[in-house]
Amino acid sequence: MIKKEEAESILKKYGQEHLLNHFETLNESKKKELLSQIENIDFELINSLYKNADKEEANKQDEISHMEYSDKYKLNEKYKEYEDIGKKSIKAGQLAVVTMAGGQGTRLGFDGPKGAYDIGLDSHKSLFELLCDNLKEGQKKYGVLVPWFIMTSEENNDQTIEFFEKHKFFGYQKDKNIFFFKQGQLPMVDTEGKILINEDGLIKLAANGHGGIYEALVKNGMVKKMREMGIEWIYIGGVDNCLAKMVDPLFVGMAIDKKVTVACKSVVKANPHEKVGVFCKRNGRPSVIEYSEISNEMAEATDENGELLYGESNLLCNLFDINAVERMGSLPLPYHIAYKKATYIDKDGELIVPDSPNAYKFESFLFDTFGTLDEMLVLRVKREEEFAPVKNADSAGVDCPSTARKMYEDFQKSKK
Ligand code: UD1
Repeated sequence: MIKKEEAESILKKYGQEHLLNHFETLNESKKKELLSQIENIDFELINSLYKNADKEEANKQDEISHMEYSDKYKLNEKYKEYEDIGKKSIKAGQLAVVTMAGGQGTRLGFDGPKGAYDIGLDSHKSLFELLCDNLKEGQKKYGVLVPWFIMTSEENNDQTIEFFEKHKFFGYQKDKNIFFFKQGQLPMVDTEGKILINEDGLIKLAANGHGGIYEALVKNGMVKKMREMGIEWIYIGGVDNCLAKMVDPLFVGMAIDKKVTVACKSVVKANPHEKVGVFCKRNGRPSVIEYSEISNEMAEATDENGELLYGESNLLCNLFDINAVERMGSLPLPYHIAYKKATYIDKDGELIVPDSPNAYKFESFLFDTFGTLDEMLVLRVKREEEFAPVKNADSAGVDCPSTARKMYEDFQKSKK
């Protein structure tokens, strides 16, 4: 552990001396924690991210083009062939599922881990339990307990584990097959490039975005654990799609047969301006273009059959070869900048609670690694079978609890 004098000299080098302003007011354990934060933060990175914060994020030079996809319902006789390959792999215990649950339910107006949210079904099952039901279905069909890895953040890790314990792991925890691991964090900075001090006197940190998943899987020993279990394929998905089909032999079988290391599911965009990312090629390589990044012209462009050129929505349902995840764990990812409201302690020791955004948060995205791939499979599935996201409060009218609930109930009825 570094001493206070060493911390001072590091901070001086990067113009962040204010971080020790209140050092003497902290208790011994907080002092140690702050010194350890200073020792571990990559100040070079933070300063360079801040310097680029006001630059145009999307590179206008990028050449965007259409991305090919396969339609699940047009595979004909190949369907069963792929499915058989996938079943063999799943039955052999080669599949693991990872849920990205680092986010809070802020947009939903819910104060807690998003996965703990109850969408209002008669059963009152949480998003976590609905996902677990999907794993149990896999267990019934293929006779294997697919191991479940849950990525939490510093902010919600304890609450998430408590939630699982309270609900007895939804009856899925047998011989330890549910694992929790935390994603990384980065400091938040103000508009002058100064790192913020949190209410507790420590450095103000925030989750580093779901792109942090690769590094987190490797650093926390999860990939090693998976290798010991004989895992070859890793499904990685968000926590907020209550129709996610995570144990899917067709998906696994197609990835194996087509020899790709990454596969993603899509559904046709509901309308050209639906708030989803869409698959595309960027400078000839697989990519996702976010709704905030796509021009109106591009969003509305159609091909000769009248289909949207950029119409394959990203469901955040991804399948990775374990070697790809490991490789991606050591890739430097670009960071996207979000301007957020952040409570902090100012130089006079006053607690400031802003009512408008005042700080930059840096996040990397899971799909920013796709540009390192030559090929990637995009499998188009049906929205009513696999995509019911819960993003907003009911007042928004879309991607909200009531729309997701209706889709979930309709799908359950259609299975009977
Ligand atoms: C995301 C995708 C979008 C896609 C849509 C589908 C991004 C940037 N965009 O949008 O392309 O069409 O989902 O529903 O992802 N999470 C973490 N840690 C973090 C940040 C997020 O675990 O630091 C998790 C969340 O808990 C959630 C998932 O990642 O499960 C998605 O994150 P969110 O920020 O809600 O993305 P969207 O804007 O909804």
